[in-house]
Amino acid sequence: MRWLHTVAVACLLHVAVPAEYLLPGDVVPTHYHLKYAFDIDPATNFSYFGVVDIYLNVKKATSKIVLHANDILIAIPIVRVGDVPSHKVTGYKVNDTYSLMTISLDKDLQEDQNYTLTIPFYGNIKHGLDGAYISTYVDKMTKEKEYLITTQFEAISARKAFPCFDEPMYKATYSIVIGHHKDYTAISNMPLENSVSENALEDHWPWSQIEKKFMKPKSDFVWDSYEKSVAMSTYLLAFVVSKFSFVQSPPELSDTKFKIWARPDALDQTAYASTTGPKALSYFEQWFNLSYPLPKQDMIAIPDFASGAMENWGLITYREKDLLYDEKQSSFLNKERVATVIAHELAHQWFGNLVTMKWWSDLWLNEGFATFAATVAVNHVEPTWNADKSSAVNDMLLILNLDALESSHPVSVPIDDPKRISEIFDDISYQKGSTLIRMMTMFLGDEVFRKAINNYLRKYSYNNAEQDDLWLELTAVSKKYGVLPNNVTVKDIMDTWTKQTGYPILTVTRDYEDKSITVSQRRYLSLAARSTSLTSWWVPLSVVCEPEARGPPPALRWLAANQGLTKLHRFEHGAERDHWLLFNHNMIAPYRVNYDTRNWQLLSNALKSNEYTRVPLLGRVQLLSDAFALAWTNHLEYSTVLNLASYLQHETEYLPLYTGLRGLMQIENVLKRSPDYGAFQKFVRKLIGDVYVRSGGLATKKILNGHDLNSVKMQVTISSWACRMKVPGCEENAIQLYKQWMDTENPDENNPIPLDLRRTVYCVGVSRGSVAEWRWALAREQRANVAAARSALLAALTCTKDVWILAQYLEWTVTEGSGVRKQDVLPVIVNIIRSPVGYYVAKDFIYTRVEEIYNTFKGQYRRMGEMIKTLLQQFTTQRELDTFLEWREKNAQYLVDSKLAVEQAIENAQVNINWITKNRKNVVDKLREFSTNYDNSTQINHGMHSAAITGSVQVFTVLIPLFMRN
Ligand code: BES
Ligand code: ZN
Repeated sequence: MRWLHTVAVACLLHVAVPAEYLLPGDVVPTHYHLKYAFDIDPATNFSYFGVVDIYLNVKKATSKIVLHANDILIAIPIVRVGDVPSHKVTGYKVNDTYSLMTISLDKDLQEDQNYTLTIPFYGNIKHGLDGAYISTYVDKMTKEKEYLITTQFEAISARKAFPCFDEPMYKATYSIVIGHHKDYTAISNMPLENSVSENALEDHWPWSQIEKKFMKPKSDFVWDSYEKSVAMSTYLLAFVVSKFSFVQSPPELSDTKFKIWARPDALDQTAYASTTGPKALSYFEQWFNLSYPLPKQDMIAIPDFASGAMENWGLITYREKDLLYDEKQSSFLNKERVATVIAHELAHQWFGNLVTMKWWSDLWLNEGFATFAATVAVNHVEPTWNADKSSAVNDMLLILNLDALESSHPVSVPIDDPKRISEIFDDISYQKGSTLIRMMTMFLGDEVFRKAINNYLRKYSYNNAEQDDLWLELTAVSKKYGVLPNNVTVKDIMDTWTKQTGYPILTVTRDYEDKSITVSQRRYLSLAARSTSLTSWWVPLSVVCEPEARGPPPALRWLAANQGLTKLHRFEHGAERDHWLLFNHNMIAPYRVNYDTRNWQLLSNALKSNEYTRVPLLGRVQLLSDAFALAWTNHLEYSTVLNLASYLQHETEYLPLYTGLRGLMQIENVLKRSPDYGAFQKFVRKLIGDVYVRSGGLATKKILNGHDLNSVKMQVTISSWACRMKVPGCEENAIQLYKQWMDTENPDENNPIPLDLRRTVYCVGVSRGSVAEWRWALAREQRANVAAARSALLAALTCTKDVWILAQYLEWTVTEGSGVRKQDVLPVIVNIIRSPVGYYVAKDFIYTRVEEIYNTFKGQYRRMGEMIKTLLQQFTTQRELDTFLEWREKNAQYLVDSKLAVEQAIENAQVNINWITKNRKNVVDKLREFSTNYDNSTQINHGMHSAAITGSVQVFTVLIPLFMRN
């Protein structure tokens, strides 16, 4: 029996109360026998019929069985012992608030007894994106519209497909039978055991009486049954009934039978997944030191899919874009995404599927770990990508922003209402979770970490665990190896990171006389006025100074949680008075660091010297990220940041450049609709002019170093910035490429635009073009057979500056049959919000059409919240915020699932508004000043550089318009 200890109630009554949103736990399932008959026919409105036998074990005598059911029609349940009915059902009803179905019986079920509960149920499969739902596509050969049935049960939608005990801790085994027309193929978590034709219906379908009432037995039906599963949680169950085909992976890559499924027209896009999947799976078996327990793994690309992918045990479902890869149509970034998603879902087969969190509060154990482990596997499968560094940076930058809000949440988060579950599938669970696991591997060492993980996985296999269980295993091995400070456990350290919201900022003050350093910590918050919080953390201090930078990493030191400040003496850090000193240089933990003025100066000088690489790569990232953030929150002068960032003119690595540009993007975001945007653009033009030329930019009409992911990212990022900042020639090159494409015969096959630059070129082509360019992109989008290509075109369509076209496009997002799939609605709206012109159109659309948007987003996690967040991210005035707050009052019913996101959005808007009031004038002056300094210090000659690189490039000489000369 589980109890909720609410502080208030416990104080008043000194007793615990059962949590009303949870199942009581007195009756638990051990096995489900689940049978379905699906009629995949629009004429019958996709009717289905099902019956489930749930084998129950009674923990405590009761006359009520409580389980979940949502949005399904239910016939009278039957309770039996063996085949003999044992109880009379006196009533059954569903409570809509928590989708709890209570079945009342005439007498108690006996403790320790086993019963079978049989529930027939039926309904119509809907076109949503969760539960069991319909997805559609057009077969290119037959031109027929085809349908498939697929499932998405995480987190709480299994209850929409069959009555069940839909909480992760009620693990049970499953035997599934699926009846369907013989033209379709059905797959599920386990291998097919048996397939019989309609003649055997009576044997297989003892409930035909009820069935016949609802669904006429069809001819040409087959009944597929699947092997009994291992014990698992409801949210991992899956089946797909489709006319898809598959390719089998090369058997030498894994002992597990791997198949990649897709609609027949996309089958040729499965090659990359078919090798990456088994490679990653085999690697995980080695890394976890535990074999994958199922005999097969199916991975399937679903045309309509809410998230990126879902780790259903043995049958992983994907959005097409995240599984399929086409050499001719997908970019390098698409390939990186496919590898990452595959690795992530495969990591879940252990972390999540084999061992599952007890309750959703520990969702981070699933998602944080899978995110971390994905990088480990990608690093193995694609060693040249340096996935470890880029993920570390990506994760860190995301969370340092979000987690600086007071309205952020702890990694391990109390959830006392299932409505709140979907909200925590966010950057805190994924990226902060992953960052904290990476931090542990760094302070415990790989060997200790992996041993403990292995112990944990073995101990809790086919069972559930909480974070404390993981801490125990980690502490046990750590103590054996002596890798922790005395009297400290992993729990002591990690509780400060997972149970508290936010992260610290360290203030580092050097005494240049006695060469000691004082370090203190407090919570870092974006709204500086509020940073009075007393929270403190166990902070691993990785510190490096000038002479040490080339040597082995220095030993780790700790700043203890309750230790107000710590002093490091000369012998503990090695820095002389003229040496720079850098904390958190390998980004070991999520924290920011502020230094005294002189150390900032020393660091700036180091970066601006031609030996800037002496500051390690992740150190440069950390410095840039910290400096921009600290200035943003008034902890540091903007002149210090701009001075430091000016070295980026010479930076050759992608990650620091990306970080610097992210810092600038935060400023761009609040200036882009203001009179000062010109000054901002000019500043960035000066900063990236050289890099643009060096990276190849758009002038080369090709990708300079197409085999190196980071070079490609550099060229892509810089090109897109260069065009946005109006670097001379950039847009002109893009426009020319787009025109060339429009003149190409067979444009869908012979696209002349370099694959990786397509997003940038399309966007410029559409934004600088007219209706013709827009229609062209739309026509290409409608013909595209590769999802990645389609998604690039969908995004391009949002780049137009024609208000009426934007309005029409937004209209399509809520219009059934418009061609914009439900899964693609959010990216369309969000892109339009972000564009300077689109903002006004989108805001109006959201304010007036929220009901339709809400209905479109149903079954898709966090979509509403993401949209609101993006909208409020654009706010720079109190008036905009006040209007929103008023609107929110009147539209509260559409925001019930987005409480957290809305709070964060409001806080973000407040941060923007404060910045504008406090910093705008000052920063714009500084930008102007720095632009002038660059003018004096560097002369960039675009033509000469690009010609030197590519030999025969046509370079556009353009007159710089007046507005760009400020
Ligand atoms: N378990 C999730 C899928 C999911 C997300 C279910 C939200 C329910 C709600 C899956 O493992 C996942 O995390 N998918 C990610 C991709 C991954 C590479 C980060 C996604 O869908 O974005
Ligand atoms: Zn996941």
